[in-house]
Amino acid sequence: RAFHTSTSSKLEHDTRSRLNCLRSSTPYQVARSGSASAMADCMQEWPEPIVRVQAVAESGLAAIPGCYVKPPRDRPAQQHLAAAANALREPSDDSIPVIDLGELLAAGDGRIDGLITEAVAAACRDWGFFQVVNHGVAPELMRAVREAWRGFFRLPISAKQQYANQPRTYEGYGSRVGVQKGGPLDWGDYYFLHLAPEAAKSPDKYWPTNPAICKEVSEEYGREVTRLCEVLMKVLSASLGLEEARFQEAFGGAECGACLRANYYPRCPQPDLTLGLSAHSDPGVLTVLLADEHVRGLQVRRADGEWVTVQPVRDDAFIVNVGDQIQILSNSVYKSVEHRVIVNAKEERISLALFYNPKGDVPIAPAAELVRPDRPSLYPPMTFDEYRVYIRKNGPRGKAQLEGFKGQAVPGTGNK
Ligand code: OGA
Ligand code: NI
Repeated sequence: RAFHTSTSSKLEHDTRSRLNCLRSSTPYQVARSGSASAMADCMQEWPEPIVRVQAVAESGLAAIPGCYVKPPRDRPAQQHLAAAANALREPSDDSIPVIDLGELLAAGDGRIDGLITEAVAAACRDWGFFQVVNHGVAPELMRAVREAWRGFFRLPISAKQQYANQPRTYEGYGSRVGVQKGGPLDWGDYYFLHLAPEAAKSPDKYWPTNPAICKEVSEEYGREVTRLCEVLMKVLSASLGLEEARFQEAFGGAECGACLRANYYPRCPQPDLTLGLSAHSDPGVLTVLLADEHVRGLQVRRADGEWVTVQPVRDDAFIVNVGDQIQILSNSVYKSVEHRVIVNAKEERISLALFYNPKGDVPIAPAAELVRPDRPSLYPPMTFDEYRVYIRKNGPRGKAQLEGFKGQAVPGTGNK
């Protein structure tokens, strides 16, 4: 599985000088954020030249540059790293709950079985994560979209640079999240696109033309997974004792958004020092992850604080997690759970995350039905467009972001 190496000497020169600058950067130094106007300015461009993690990985360095080195408390445990590299499908006691949607989808009468809502409620309360099987998305489509993106990431870097993204929209080929100079970097490259609603869809210039099938197959996949999200929204609403349509309506009805993030985690010479993606919760409503069929890497923080490596039960299972918007709408009955990605020295890893998001301009606040005198509203109304600005500026920050908004609920909504 050798990569093509770049033939462009200019690119090689750039990469070398950027690697030199990375070598001299201080480990885990985080810059302080500036004023609001400085924030707006810095969102136009990256604070430092972008280095593709693929380039660093292929440069053959034995030690990773300091900017990828995490503080000791954030580093993965040795036994997890060893297990991730051999994607064994051994049964495990602590695997996240599996929800079978087969009967619900086959019944087609829109009636949601109490067993399913109970299982989903328990998964959301205990884990914030669950796997779904018999979800209606064709395995061939899942395979095709996975192969399309694998094909893209295996192209030489020079063929991908034309899609280099900017922090203003993030659309395209990226290697960092967050615009703070000297901020920590993760061991992964990605590709980000808007799929829905139609008006927000990424224009053609942002779509890879190679592999030729990439756009078509991603669009089809986006439609199918969005349909699945609409079903899951009904189940989630019902699981909280709300009208089935309640969630969908609160998040903007038919105009909810969908974005695709294809993640590429190259092999890493020192996986014990870094992360493919730092701990974060997802800002949107739901995330549907198609994980690599061979290599594990996703870890979920369990209620007791331990990191648990997710093992998909089947190649065609989806890993679903609730995002910050569900925590807000449910008034924290369901919590978006922290997760992160570990990398390994033997195998690269690919994953596809479909983010189902609220319509951008709808204020989201706890549902009135879930606000009571003994459980006051925990969050002030905020649109997703507003919320996302913070995430995009700061990069992955565990759950600090959402916690920061807590307790700012406006008077009259039942908040103290
Ligand atoms: C994400 C994410 C997990 C993975 O893209 O938000 O959490 O396994 N990805 O790549
Ligand atoms: Ni995530």
